[in-house]
Amino acid sequence: MCGIIAYAGHRPAVPLLIDGLRRLEYRGYDSAGVAFIQQRKIHCLKASGRLSALERTVSSFRMPLLASSGIGHTRWATHGEPNEANAHPHLSNDGGFALAHNGIIENYREIKSRLAGLGYVFYSDTDTEPLVNLIAEERKKTPDNLSAFRNALLRVDGAFALSLICLDEPEAVYAARKDAPLVVGAGTEENFIASDVTAFLPYTRNVIFLEEGEIARVTPSARAVFDLRTLEPVSRHVRKIDWDISSAQKGGYKHFMLKEIFEQPAVLRNVLAGRINPGGGKVELPELEKLPRPARIRIVACGTSYNAGLWAAPLLEQWGGIPCAVEIASEFRYRKPILGKDELVILISQSGETADTLAALKIAGASKAATLGLCNVIGSSIARGADRVVYTQAGPEISVASTKALCSQMALLAVLALHFGLRAKTFPVEKAKEELARFSQLADLLEGHLPLLRREVEPIALRAANAKNIFFLGRGQNYALAQEGALKFKELSYVHAEAYAAGEMKHGPIALVDRDFLTIALAPRDEHLPKMISNIQEVAARGGPIIMLGQPGGETTPESAQFWSIPECPPPFAGFVILPMLQLLSYEAARYLGKDVDQPRNLAKSVTVE
Ligand code: M6R
Repeated sequence: MCGIIAYAGHRPAVPLLIDGLRRLEYRGYDSAGVAFIQQRKIHCLKASGRLSALERTVSSFRMPLLASSGIGHTRWATHGEPNEANAHPHLSNDGGFALAHNGIIENYREIKSRLAGLGYVFYSDTDTEPLVNLIAEERKKTPDNLSAFRNALLRVDGAFALSLICLDEPEAVYAARKDAPLVVGAGTEENFIASDVTAFLPYTRNVIFLEEGEIARVTPSARAVFDLRTLEPVSRHVRKIDWDISSAQKGGYKHFMLKEIFEQPAVLRNVLAGRINPGGGKVELPELEKLPRPARIRIVACGTSYNAGLWAAPLLEQWGGIPCAVEIASEFRYRKPILGKDELVILISQSGETADTLAALKIAGASKAATLGLCNVIGSSIARGADRVVYTQAGPEISVASTKALCSQMALLAVLALHFGLRAKTFPVEKAKEELARFSQLADLLEGHLPLLRREVEPIALRAANAKNIFFLGRGQNYALAQEGALKFKELSYVHAEAYAAGEMKHGPIALVDRDFLTIALAPRDEHLPKMISNIQEVAARGGPIIMLGQPGGETTPESAQFWSIPECPPPFAGFVILPMLQLLSYEAARYLGKDVDQPRNLAKSVTVE
C-alpha cells in the first residue's frame, strides 16, 4: 500500500521525508518520491525501485537541500506501471502544486479528458495527475488554496488520502482523506502528516487521526482541521499514543494478519471502485474490452487463490453463463491439458510469482487459449506474462496467511461473472441492479460486524484450538469456504483440519466421527440449508461435537451444536462475511496456542520454487 509523509517545521525536510519513507517501507512499494519548494520552484525528485534509488537522485540534486517543508510518497502501483513518471508526487502543469495520493480516483478518466480539452498535458498514467491539475484549475477561480483543494475534491469520486504543497504558500502542507487513513503528528514548532504514525514516530507521539471527509492544513506553528464539504473548522483533540514502531506498523493490531482481516471492508471498496454501477446495472472492466466471449473458462491457481476460483466457478456459470472448471496449478502443469482456442484460462495469484501458477501460464500461453492474470502485485511475472491482467487492488499482504487477497479475488471474480452475463445479455439488467446494490453495501455491513465477530470468536476458537482433528463442511460455494477454513486453520495452528463437501461425508469420512472429532459446519440460509442440516444431524447422531455457522432460524438444529451467528446477508454475498469469521477463528486459535501467526513454520509468502 502506498505511504505518505509530509512535514512542515524547522528541520531539513528532504532527509526527514526519506527517513519517514523508510519507516513506511514495510507497506510495500515499487517507486518513491519527494517534493519540496526551493528558490520559488516546486522540485519533484522521484525514482522507481527502492529508496536507495531515490537517495541517489536526491544526492545528485544541484543545490543544497534547504527546504523545511515538503511531501514524500512510496507508491505501490495501481494505475500504470511502476516507473519514475508514475511515481508520486505529481506536479501540476503550471508548477504551482505537487500532490501525493493513496487510494483510487474512480472518475479520473473523465477529469483527464475535460482538462485535456483545456490544454492540460499529462506525463503519467496515474489517476493522481488529473487531480493535481484539477486543483490548479480550481485555483484560478478561487481566492485561496484551501478552497481550490476542497472544490477539486468535491468533483472527485473514489478513495483518497492526499498531501499537497502549493508554491505560493511554501510553509504550508495540506491533507485530505476519504476512505483511506491519514494522521497528523503534532510536534513543537513542527507538524507532520502521514498515512500511518510509523512515519513520524521518532519525532512525536501526539497525533490527530483525521476523520472521513476532513481537510487539514499544517504549518510549522499551526494545525487546523476543516470539514471537506463546508470548510467549517473542526475541533479535534490531540491524542498521545504509546505504540512502538512494530505495533505502529500494524496500525495498533497485534499482528499483520489481524490488521489485514480488518482491512477487508476497505479492500472491497477498492475492488468495486469504478467497476460497478448499481444504479445503471452495469460493471466496467476495461481490461477485458476486446476479449471475445469464451466458450469455457478454466481457473488455475494454488492454495488460497485456488479457493477463490472454487468459490467463483458457480457464479461464472450461473451469472456469466459460461462453463467453468477449477484446477490446482501443480496438477494442471503436468497433465498435458487440452485447451481450445475459445477457452479462457484465468490464473489467480496474489503474488503473481507462484512457480506452479507461472508454469501453468506458460502452458496455457503456448496453446491457443486466451490467458487472464488476476494478480495483486503490479508488474509481477504472471501479470506481465498473461495476455491480459486485472489487478485485485488489495494492497500489499504482509502476513503469510492470505486473507484480504482472497476477499479481493472473490469480489473481482463476481464482477467478472456479471461482466460476462451482462455483455451476453443472458443476465437481466434489473437483476444486476439488485445484486450490485447488495454488493455495494457489503463493505459497510462487514465493517459494522467485524468488531463483534472478533469478540464472539474467542470461546469458539478456544474450543477448536483444543481439538485434535477438525472437519470443515459446506455445500456449494460454502464448500470452497470450508476448504479455505481448513487451510487457514492447519496453516496457522498446526491442528489437523480437512474440508469436505458435506454430501461426501457418508462416502467414507463419517467413519472418523466420534466424540473427539470436531466438525465446523458452514450452514447459512441458502438453497443448501436443508441438506446441510441433514448432514449436521448425521454427525450429531454419531456423537460428533459441532460448531455451526448459521443464520437465525437454524439455531436449534441440532441442539448439541454450538451456534455462531452469521450476520444477515443474502447469498452469494454471505461468503464475504463467512470468510472473515473463518479467518478470525484460525487467527484466535493460533494466538491461543502461542503460534507465530504472521509467519507460520515451514511456509513462505511467495512460493517461487516447486
Ligand atoms: O501468491 P499466490 O496467490 O499465487 O499464492 C498461492 C498460495 O501459495 C497462497 O495462497 C497460500 O496458500 C496462502 N499463503 C495461504 O494462506
